[in-house]
Amino acid sequence: MVRAIYPGSFDPVTNGHLDIIDRASKVFDYLLVSVLENPRKDALFSMEERVYMLESIIKPYDNVKVDFYQGLLVDYAQKNEIAIIIKGLRAISDFEFEFQMALTNRKLNCDVETMFMMTNNKYSFISSSIVKEVASYGGDIKGLVPPQVYDMIMDKITVYNRTF
Ligand code: PNS
Repeated sequence: MVRAIYPGSFDPVTNGHLDIIDRASKVFDYLLVSVLENPRKDALFSMEERVYMLESIIKPYDNVKVDFYQGLLVDYAQKNEIAIIIKGLRAISDFEFEFQMALTNRKLNCDVETMFMMTNNKYSFISSSIVKEVASYGGDIKGLVPPQVYDMIMDKITVYNRTF
């Protein structure tokens, strides 16, 4: 049974993430989608909210599970007996940092391999940050995020009065 982990901050989940989940679920027998903290980013949504978003979109997939973790990704992978990390690549601009993270993770644990999936070109411009920025100025984010996530973002905008 080939198991993989798809980690991310998912703040919020976008259609680009969903595309990677969909495609990775067909390649691997088991896919663990896990919310981890990215220390470089201040999160808008709590861990619980991000897990909830993911839970709501992975329902159609029997072999996909959602979890969260605070700590090193490679430690988490090892605890779950998973030796493959899946990352999505949108553009050359993603590459440099992903390359650095992949090499760091390999240095930390050489038994864990990072594999990259190229994004579907329909979603190559979408990022969680762009979604938050557009939404914060009242722009239309339909088509950028799954419908359930759209509702959660709209609720957040109302609560924060469009200041995030
Ligand atoms: O969706 P993101 O923000 O690009 O995801 C980045 C994430 C959360 C996968 C990355 O920051 C991470 O692995 N965080 C856990 C802490 C860790 O292991 N850091 C060392 C990686 S070089």
